[in-house]
Amino acid sequence: MTAEKATEQLQIREGTEKDVDELVDLANRADEARLEPFADVAPRGKEGFRKVLKLSESDFWVRVATLDGKIVGFITGEPTINLDTKERIEGVEHLKTLIVDPEFWGKKIGGSLVSDAIEFTKKKGRKQIELWTHETNLRAQRLYEGKGFKLTGERKKADNTNELIVHYSLNI
Ligand SMILES: CC(C)(COP(=O)(O)OP(=O)(O)OC[C@H]1O[C@@H](n2cnc3c(N)ncnc32)[C@H](O)[C@@H]1OP(=O)(O)O)[C@@H](O)C(=O)NCCC(=O)NCCS
Repeated sequence: MTAEKATEQLQIREGTEKDVDELVDLANRADEARLEPFADVAPRGKEGFRKVLKLSESDFWVRVATLDGKIVGFITGEPTINLDTKERIEGVEHLKTLIVDPEFWGKKIGGSLVSDAIEFTKKKGRKQIELWTHETNLRAQRLYEGKGFKLTGERKKADNTNELIVHYSLNI
């Protein structure tokens, strides 16, 4: 399937609790595929992704991409909080997880999910989106930069692995 065909046929909808098992499996596969070149980094595992997919929390959202009814990717987000005070940062949304089925990488599905999330977040009245990504994840960084995200210069060690993560932000 070409990239044009995939994006033409792609549907993006809100995710629900019923999707969680499928999303956890998909996230685990994509994470393992991303980490293949980095033998010393342990993938975060299915339980790690289950914890992140907290659909019972009212401000958390997930947008799910399907091709012929099959889930091929998803993106999640929630309001940004100050990690020290736990207070919400007004007008800012945090993109938490972006995952595409490795069988479909390079077909602009990730890009379509980010564009959808930008529109969705704008409709919530937010003015800025921010996210962290692994320093070694050049594919994700190209994608975010292509959508206008800029590096803020902040970087820190990841919670889930021993890699460094870098911070991106986009004014919307
Ligand atoms: C990152 C990820 C979501 C990208 O999904 P995707 O559907 O392949 O994304 P797209 O097809 O929209 O392409 C993204 C960019 O990757 C680039 N790319 C394609 N093949 C590449 C390769 N082999 N190496 C590096 N970059 C590549 C493309 O150039 C594209 O940008 P451009 O077309 O604007 O130039 C997907 O690879 C994934 O699920 N990875 C594992 C999970 C992950 O890393 N998530 C991001 C965490 S923040």
